[in-house]
Amino acid sequence: MKKPYESHEIAYQKMRKQGIKQWGGKGSGTKGSFSYETKRFLKDVLSQPWAPKEGRVIEFGCGTGPIIRWICERGFRGLGLDVSKTAIDMAKEQSDGHGVRFQRGDICNLNTKRLGKFDLVVDGHCYHCITDIEDRKAYLDTAYNVLKPGGVFVLMTMCAPVNRKQFKQDWKGQRLHKKVVYFPWRGETCQGMRTFTGQHYMPTRYMAHWKDILNELRQADFNLNLIRYNAHNYNDAVGTLTVGALKPK
Ligand SMILES: C[S@@+](CC[C@H](N)C(=O)[O-])C[C@H]1O[C@@H](n2cnc3c(N)ncnc32)[C@H](O)[C@@H]1O
Repeated sequence: MKKPYESHEIAYQKMRKQGIKQWGGKGSGTKGSFSYETKRFLKDVLSQPWAPKEGRVIEFGCGTGPIIRWICERGFRGLGLDVSKTAIDMAKEQSDGHGVRFQRGDICNLNTKRLGKFDLVVDGHCYHCITDIEDRKAYLDTAYNVLKPGGVFVLMTMCAPVNRKQFKQDWKGQRLHKKVVYFPWRGETCQGMRTFTGQHYMPTRYMAHWKDILNELRQADFNLNLIRYNAHNYNDAVGTLTVGALKPK
């Protein structure tokens, strides 16, 4: 059975038809990932004495590649991975001359042998798309395994607490049930689907409490060097957590 995160392919096919270049682009109906806050956090991490200044970077959930292109403009050699074939095709079309490679891959089920090791692993706002606990463990294990000792993992994710009143207004028609956001779904059946009041829903986002996400990282053996938590606010019903985590030497 398909994994729910594979449904991103449908969103990218729509974006391509409408001429929208990236996740969160105008008219996409999705919230932008490569925001001012993302850039600021990446700049903060990369300016730390323990962070790499050059070398190999891999982005998990690169979409059409805006984040990894930006990092590679700063001296890294990059590989972007995404589960969506259309996203990877669009990323390649947009990345001429950037020295970035792109490849389709599911981070929760990835053969890492041929990838080699990286100085920097960036979660491109992908971790919150992983709604199954075992898949989340596999995701963090992959991040750990592809990093060189002393390498840095940057995690950027939505998190709880969630302002439920605002969630109802902003995430129209969606349900938040036991940390998981569910989207009404009439398409192909996928793992983790549920029925609420006679309607089928697909799991799309995982809203763990930010402290629980820090524990997930610690359990995966990362040292947490830089942590920024933004609580939900008038502009956003959910919180965001950004972490610069080190794989010990
Ligand atoms: C919020 S979008 C961000 C895309 C991109 N980083 C950007 O900033 O434009 C999250 C991305 O993660 C990808 N994704 C979700 N689950 C994945 C998985 N298991 N393996 C690889 N990519 C995945 C989706 O296809 C989607 O492109």
